[in-house]
Amino acid sequence: MPALVLLGAQWGDEGKGKATDLLGGSVDYVVRYQGGNNAGHTVVVGDQKYALHLLPSGILSPDCVPVIGNGVVVDPSVLLFELSGLNDRGVDTSKLLISGNAHIITPYNVTTDKVTERFLGKRKIGTTGRGIGPTYADKINRTGIRVQDLYDESILRQKVEAALDIKNQMLTKLYNRRAIAADQVLEELLGYADKLRPYVADTVLVLNEALDAGKVVLFEGGQGTLLDIDHGTYPFVTSSNPTAGGACTGAGVGPTKINRVIGILKAYTTRVGAGPFPTELLDEDGEALRRIGGERGVTTGRDRRCGWFDAVIARYATRVNGLTDFFLTKLDVLTGWEQIPVCVAYEIDGKRVEELPYSQTDFHHAKPIYETLPGWSEDISAAKSFADLPKNAQAYVKALEEMSGAPISAIGVGPGRDETVQINSFL
Ligand code: IMP
Repeated sequence: MPALVLLGAQWGDEGKGKATDLLGGSVDYVVRYQGGNNAGHTVVVGDQKYALHLLPSGILSPDCVPVIGNGVVVDPSVLLFELSGLNDRGVDTSKLLISGNAHIITPYNVTTDKVTERFLGKRKIGTTGRGIGPTYADKINRTGIRVQDLYDESILRQKVEAALDIKNQMLTKLYNRRAIAADQVLEELLGYADKLRPYVADTVLVLNEALDAGKVVLFEGGQGTLLDIDHGTYPFVTSSNPTAGGACTGAGVGPTKINRVIGILKAYTTRVGAGPFPTELLDEDGEALRRIGGERGVTTGRDRRCGWFDAVIARYATRVNGLTDFFLTKLDVLTGWEQIPVCVAYEIDGKRVEELPYSQTDFHHAKPIYETLPGWSEDISAAKSFADLPKNAQAYVKALEEMSGAPISAIGVGPGRDETVQINSFL
């Protein structure tokens, strides 16, 4: 069972860090294949809490090689900051590999992200402001800067100057901002070259050789299925492909190599930023989910919007990702509710709809149709097996599994590394 993909089945923040880290001990490589430091993983090891944005969570497992694949966008300042933060806490980061083909988030990409969001006003996406969208836009426009460009000063200069020629027109004439000097950008980027050099590698070759040798490789998605640029709630999405196919393009491995695709699914739903969210709760239940679940973004510190579980979305995630398993997280957060509503379908303009509508307009009109399941009040955080869960919690999990279309193979019952009920092995 050499290659697994682990990804968010909702709008991100499903608790992927914990799941990846749980597997990290038994996998040889943990690979990020898309996104950048817009992601946020919190990993709890013993009494230590680590917040990672760009580095793969596997960096905390001593025997694992963490890899930043070609599909990732890298802000070197954030990367070096995270590395030195971990080093200061005694974590060995020397095994990290970074694809030379990964694109760099330049200072002008961060500026563009912030300026365009401000310009959009009420129509803004609610991005993390980390330069993700503009960096992917440059990549698609073929004006991006790649990690390998740091090692050829004259090419780097040509590319930065060409990019800034256009961007400075936009910044000064459209957005009324100061122009950015190419020399300043070059100085900053070249300053990262030596520091990053030990990590830069042909990660496509490394990963394919590892797979050929029967090593276990885990591909770790950032964000979530509904934030996918192709399959998410466009335009309120990120600019990459967190869905399973993104692992192939973003790491350079063929789909025939992937054996298992695990969707991380929160026992309720959250979303950060703007965009439709049918089960969103704007009442005290939403407030309680936010408080009990600690639903505040690791990356931005923004409060997450909270709502009940949405089975329509889970079914959709199963389909577009070809999920083989779910990891259900944060079940403990629901302890104490007498009744727990679950969205089983939508009502759209008077009609019952079972599957996610492809039309943006329809999705904006979707109203949740709920079924209510009985809750439980017992503390479940010490549960080690499915049988240890209260009957109503078992029934809730089984109902979600049936509605979502893939087996729930693990359940998170608390934030700690060992607070997990494993039903089926992932390996
Ligand atoms: P961007 O990825 O910064 O361009 O932001 C685009 C959208 O994706 C915004 O709604 C963000 O809040 C959302 N987003 C980006 N990264 C994450 C994440 O890791 N978790 C949840 N939402 C995210």
